[in-house]
Amino acid sequence: MTGRQPAVEPGVCILRYPLPGPTATTNLGAALAPRLGRGDVLTLAGDLGAGKTTLARGLIGALGHAGPVPSPTFTLVQHYAIEPVPIWHFDLYRIGHRDELVELGYDEACAEGIVLVEWADRLGPDLPATRLNIALDYDRSGRARAAKLSGLATWTDRLQGFWP
Ligand SMILES: Nc1ncnc2c1ncn2[C@@H]1O[C@H](COP(=O)(O)OP(=O)(O)OP(=O)(O)O)[C@@H](O)[C@H]1O
Ligand SMILES: [Mg+2]
Repeated sequence: MTGRQPAVEPGVCILRYPLPGPTATTNLGAALAPRLGRGDVLTLAGDLGAGKTTLARGLIGALGHAGPVPSPTFTLVQHYAIEPVPIWHFDLYRIGHRDELVELGYDEACAEGIVLVEWADRLGPDLPATRLNIALDYDRSGRARAAKLSGLATWTDRLQGFWP
């Protein structure tokens, strides 16, 4: 298997992609956009500065939002009233307590839209098992990144033939 070959494992879906620069991260987000729909939760994992917001920008732009996509670092959530499916982009790094999720509209977001979550480990038991997780890791150079997509078996079907 070469480094550019996606591997799909039974039971869980695991796809790996090299991301040699920010444009590749944006393109991965954009390529995922047409595969998503209402009720989907994407968790974006990775260290500080790994590229989570960069991926979200590509995805939100590809779904039809033409304006800026600010990082939700301080607001904790940004909402995009895109037709036909709205998007909520959360960054839970600074969330104090799970109760704040209610005020942020997390439940409403999951029912009505596509939900992107940075620092989703803060969700604890609210972390949905049906999510698609995108882990962004620094490669050995410390500059480029690599992405690993994982989720339940349903994502194996939904990502069939996927290549950003
Ligand atoms: N594949 C990549 N290779 C190199 N740099 C990248 C790559 N993807 C994104 N970057 C760069 O990494 C920097 C941080 O990106 P970004 O803000 O998206 O990270 P983040 O994971 O959202 O950070 P935070 O944890 O602070 O929310 C930006 O300068 C971005 O251009
Ligand atoms: Mg970010």
